[in-house]
Amino acid sequence: MAKLIIMALAFLVCAASRGRCEEGGTSPLQVGFYDGKCADVDVEAAVGAVVASFYDRDPTVAAALLRLQFHDCFIHGCDASILLDGPDSEKTSPANRRVRGYDLIEAAKSSVEAVCPGVVSCADIIVMATRDAVSLGGGGRYTVQTGRRDGTISFASDVNMPASSISVSDSIKVFGEKGLSPTDMVYLLGGHTIGVARCSTFQDRLYNFQNTGEPDPTMDSTLRDTLLARCPQDSDSDENTVDLDQNASSSSTVDNSYYQQILSNRGILQIDQELALDQWTRPTVDAIAQGLDFNMGFGQAMIKLGAVQVLTGEQGEVRQFCNRNN
Ligand code: HEM
Ligand SMILES: *[C@@H]1O[C@H](CO)[C@@H](O)[C@H](O)[C@H]1NC(C)=O
Repeated sequence: MAKLIIMALAFLVCAASRGRCEEGGTSPLQVGFYDGKCADVDVEAAVGAVVASFYDRDPTVAAALLRLQFHDCFIHGCDASILLDGPDSEKTSPANRRVRGYDLIEAAKSSVEAVCPGVVSCADIIVMATRDAVSLGGGGRYTVQTGRRDGTISFASDVNMPASSISVSDSIKVFGEKGLSPTDMVYLLGGHTIGVARCSTFQDRLYNFQNTGEPDPTMDSTLRDTLLARCPQDSDSDENTVDLDQNASSSSTVDNSYYQQILSNRGILQIDQELALDQWTRPTVDAIAQGLDFNMGFGQAMIKLGAVQVLTGEQGEVRQFCNRNN
C-alpha cells in the first residue's frame, strides 16, 4: 500500500513538472529509438558522417560539443533549449558566451531532415553528435539512448551554470540535483581532458586567490610560471586561452591524463584542482588516474547526463530547425 502511494505521488510530481522527470522517473529513452522510423536510413550514421567531416577540418569541435551537451542538459534538461535563438534565449547568457558547435548541430539536422523530415529531435542530435566527437577524440564509443523531444522554453535568466570556483561539496550538490552521483561528477569533469579555458576563468588563481593578493598555493609552480606568461595581469584576460589538460601530448585526446595532471597539481580551473585535493573525490581521481577504465566510466556518466530531465513521448516537439521553435 505504502509503495502504491509513493508510486502515485511520483507520478503526480512527474505530471506537475510537465514530464520533466529525473532519472528513475518514467523516461522512455531507449537505445535505437529511430530504428525503423526513417525507412532504411541509419540516423546515427548520418549524424556521425557530419561530425566526422567537421572534426576533420577542426578537431576542437569535440571539446565544443562536449561542453554544449553539458550546458544543454544542465538547464531545462537535455531538450536543445540552448540552441534556440532569441533576444533573451539561453545562448545569450554570459555562461554560454563561449559555447560553440551550433553550426555542426544545424548541419547534422539538415542532413537528417533531408532524408527523414520531422522525426529526429535536435536534443537527440546533440547527444549523438557528442558521442561521435568523444570517440573521434580518442575516447570510448558509448551507446546512446534516444527518444528525446525538443523543448520550447529558453531564457537567459534560467541559465545557472556552476562557476569555476565552485567548491567540491557545492558541485556535488548541484550534480546531485540533476540525479548525478559524486562519481558521475568526477567522471564528467574528465570532460576537461580536452578543450581550453580563457585566462579570465582562472586568473584569480595566479594573482589574487580568494582575495589574498597571493597566488593559489596548491598550483604547481612550473605551471604557475607558464600561466603567468600566458595570462599577464594587465592584459585582456578574455583574449588568451590555455589547455584544460596540461599534458601537451594529450591535450586534444579524450583520455585519463586530466586526472594525472590534477594529481600533479596541474589543474587549470579551481574546481579541477579541488577535485584532486578533496577527501571525497580524491579516491576516485586516484583510481581513474591509475587506470580504472575511464572510457567506460565516462561513457556511462555521459549517458546519465543525457537522461537529465528529458522530454519524451508527446511532450515538447521535434523542431524543424534547431535554432527556432516550429
Ligand atoms: C562544476 C562543473 C564545471 C565547471 C565549473 C566548468 C567550467 C568550465 C570553464 C570555466 C570552462 C572554460 C570556458 C571559457 O573559457 O569560457 C570550461 C570549458 C570546458 N568544459 Fe567545463 N565545467 C564543468 C563541467 C564540465 C562537464 C561536466 C563537461 C563535459 C562533460 C565539461 C566540458 C568542458 C569542455 C570540453 C570545455 C572546453 C570547451 C572548448 O574548448 O571550447 N565541463 N568548463
Ligand atoms: C601524457 O599523455 C601521454 C599520452 O596519452 C601519456 O602516455 C602520459 O602518461 C601522460 N603523462 C602525464 C604525466 O600525464
